Amino acid sequence: MPEDNLTARLSARFGEAPSVPARAQHHATLLGIAGRASCRAFTDEPVEGDLLATLCAVALSAPSKSDLQQRDIVIVDEPEQLAALKGLLEAQAWIAGAPVLLVFCGNNRRQRQLHAWTGRPFVNDHLDAFFNASVDAGIALATFIVAAEAAGLGCCPISTIRNEAEAACTLLGLPDHVFPVAALAVGHPAAAERPISARLPLQATVHRNRFDETGLRETVERYDRVRAAQDPGARQRSVGRYGRAAQYGWSEDKTRQYSLPERTDFGAFVRRKGFDLG
Ligand SMILES: Cc1cc2nc3c(=O)[nH]c(=O)nc-3n(C[C@H](O)[C@H](O)[C@H](O)COP(=O)(O)O)c2cc1C
Repeated sequence: MPEDNLTARLSARFGEAPSVPARAQHHATLLGIAGRASCRAFTDEPVEGDLLATLCAVALSAPSKSDLQQRDIVIVDEPEQLAALKGLLEAQAWIAGAPVLLVFCGNNRRQRQLHAWTGRPFVNDHLDAFFNASVDAGIALATFIVAAEAAGLGCCPISTIRNEAEAACTLLGLPDHVFPVAALAVGHPAAAERPISARLPLQATVHRNRFDETGLRETVERYDRVRAAQDPGARQRSVGRYGRAAQYGWSEDKTRQYSLPERTDFGAFVRRKGFDLG
């Protein structure tokens, strides 16, 4: 059996690994993150409420832009409420098996409340207000995932909650300036191991001192071959429109996905939530 260390895990992920310092090779946190994978199949075992609350606290220990703390988490575990939220997300059948869902929200409302309470004008009602809250929510989401996976749980984010953003706001009682960034399914993984999903080679995504796209097309083509070989039976999108591809790589999948309109009303939703975005 090949040695399991950080070099091996990063090589499996990227097709190559940077020169990993000896002290990092067996670092438990780094190994865990490098070998992680989203989980979409769970056992029936419920997730302990105390553990969920603890993981939320850990996630909210992550950095926050200007200490503004513009992100909140809604834990949805009450059976009726959980069923109603799953009902909004039913286009993805696997979600039905999630024992609990969390919703990571951007929250620019508190900041505006502070201004109302202190009588100082809030004069930054432009795109940055929405962007900062979104980024904070994304950081909390990522930190929660790392923490939950370290605790032995499996997770999968769900962006399609934004397909039903208005209905999700009504269901969860999200007021103006509070909006869902992503839901997260959390549970005990049904399988001991999940295949890791290869990422773009690091030469395409890690830049030294300056952005550099040299050789990008060839790098992506190489990556496409890796992805196609990794999952030859992958479900192909829009076969009616584009036919069945002999080699279904990442570019094929992503361009098929984004050749169809998706969430074109999201900007209008965000404006209805009270953001100016100017
Ligand atoms: C913000 C965000 C939203 C996502 N939404 C979905 C989703 O709606 N459904 C889904 O099955 N996976 C979703 N994912 C999971 C990605 O598909 C997954 O992270 C990606 O395919 C890479 O796989 P990995 O996490 O196993 O490495 C989402 C991930 C992120 C970060």
